[in-house]
Amino acid sequence: MAKSLEIIKDPNLILRNISVDFDRAKINSKASKSLFLDMAKTMIENDGLGLAAPQIGLNIRVIVINTPEGTLCMINPVITKKSFAKEIGEEGCLSIPKVFGEVARHKKISCKFITDENRNAKIEASGMIARAIQHEIDHLDGILFKDKAKNLKIEKTKKK
Ligand code: CO
Repeated sequence: MAKSLEIIKDPNLILRNISVDFDRAKINSKASKSLFLDMAKTMIENDGLGLAAPQIGLNIRVIVINTPEGTLCMINPVITKKSFAKEIGEEGCLSIPKVFGEVARHKKISCKFITDENRNAKIEASGMIARAIQHEIDHLDGILFKDKAKNLKIEKTKKK
């Protein structure tokens, strides 16, 4: 059974480290499978649009994204193409509770990654999914949305 993990809150150095590539040889291990499932459950239970491994205390390049089609697990994600055009949208973060702000992100991106079944994959994304992927990949590089946000504000209930 997947379990919901504790989420690391800002400020914490783990959120500021550069995460290392996940060892592909380990993707099919039992421990990895349950890690990916636990990350998905942690994201869903906390009503997040995405979650990055540093947020659960691991400096490895693994993220999960909450899409209408279900959880997308992306291992060693790399943005290979981004639109020149950016779009401003409101963001929050499970590691920075109740804080929201406007962040400019590339409207469209292409991203290559490895799936949780150890396959090479590529996604072209726009809108909220593109935003979520950019936000989560920033986490892997020790960057938080508040570093880039304008008009930071504190609120009670909003999607993270
Ligand atoms: Co975040």
